[in-house]
Order: sequence, then structure tokens, then C-alpha cells
Amino acid sequence: MAAILSVSGSPSPTSRTTRLLRHLDDRLRRQGHEVTPLDVRTLPPEALLGADFGHPAIVAAADLFARAEGVVIGTPVYKAAYSGLLKSLLDLLPQYALTGKTVLPLATGGSTAHVLAIDYALRPVLSSMGAAHIVPGWFTLDRDISDLATDVGSSPLAPAAAQALGLVTDQFSAALGGRTDALAATG
Ligand SMILES: Cc1cc2nc3c(=O)[nH]c(=O)nc-3n(C[C@H](O)[C@H](O)[C@H](O)COP(=O)(O)O)c2cc1C
Repeated sequence: MAAILSVSGSPSPTSRTTRLLRHLDDRLRRQGHEVTPLDVRTLPPEALLGADFGHPAIVAAADLFARAEGVVIGTPVYKAAYSGLLKSLLDLLPQYALTGKTVLPLATGGSTAHVLAIDYALRPVLSSMGAAHIVPGWFTLDRDISDLATDVGSSPLAPAAAQALGLVTDQFSAALGGRTDALAATG
């Protein structure tokens, strides 16, 4: 089906955003996609903070974007916007790194006060990078995502959050030609 890059922009070593994304990665794989995870926090800080466009790790990350047909961008809401870590990578990519790609924007946050951060903060950045199709995104409250220690091997999401995320993920998958009916047997 499609090559999908799944990018987490959280700096946290126990990130709920990353946990949410990796759960959705599995759903997308079951629909026939080839999913590559990318945690921005694993890239060299000196390259991200020193604007080292030619650093091999940055070049490799840019290549992952170039090869993807679909991109999931996940970020925690920090100070009413996306994380600085995510922006530090996006700033090192070519201006039109998302040209022709289908993008699913996702955010997690502690308060519904910033539920629109995807639309007023992240979406304009993705548009400026040439995204062909930004499908409806979703904001998930942090309390609806369990932490790593309590939930190994099962869904990290509260039922209502899982249902909402399943819908937006399936819309993204369908836009990429995924077999969303493949989930009927697995739930
Ligand atoms: C520095 C910092 C700033 C934050 N700012 C906001 C905010 O403005 N609005 C909000 O809803 N949540 C805010 N939060 C809460 C996080 O967005 C939320 O806990 C998120 O799920 C953390 O994701 P992570 O575990 O992937 O880092 C903030 C958290 C931190 C650490």
C-alpha cells in the first residue's frame, strides 16, 4: 500500500504522544501500509540546535520524508503550540518537504483549552511545506493515554479516545489506499 513516516515530536523519554503514535502505527500496518517510526528526540541535539543541515542524521531524516507517501505528525501541545523539538527538525527540512504527501496531524495535551492547536499552529506549518492533503487531525487529552509502566502489550488509549483516533487514522489510511476493512476481524 503506502509508505508512511510516523513522526513523534515529543522530547519526553516516556512520551504519551509517542505511545499513541506507535499504537496507531500498528493499526496502519494491519491495513497494509509500510510504517517507519521516527522519534525526533533520537536525532543529535547538536545538529537540531546548530542548524546542521548536512549532518548525516538530518540528511537521513530528510530522506525518510522524501520517500514517504503519507506522514503522521504527532506533537505534545507545549505553550499552546507544537513542541520546539518538532519545529527544530521541520526547520532543517527542505521548504517543500511535504509536497505531494498526505499528512495526518495529531496532538496530545493536558487541557481542552488548546484543542485547536493543530488547526491554528501546526496546520499552517504543514501547508507551508507543500502538503498536498492534510486530513482531519485529532487532539487527545494526556489523561486518556496510559503511561508505559502500567500498560505494556495492550491499548494505551481510553475507549472513547481509541474510537476517535481509529476514525481519523482510517480516513488517513483510506486516502492512501489502505484496507480499512482489514480491521473488521481484529477490532
Ligand atoms: C513544558 C510543557 C508545556 C505544556 N503546555 C501545555 C499547553 O499549553 N496546553 C496543554 O493543553 N498542555 C500542555 N502541556 C501538557 C502536555 O501537552 C501533555 O501532558 C502531553 O500529553 C505531553 O506529551 P508527551 O508525554 O508526549 O510529552 C505542557 C507540558 C509541558 C511539559
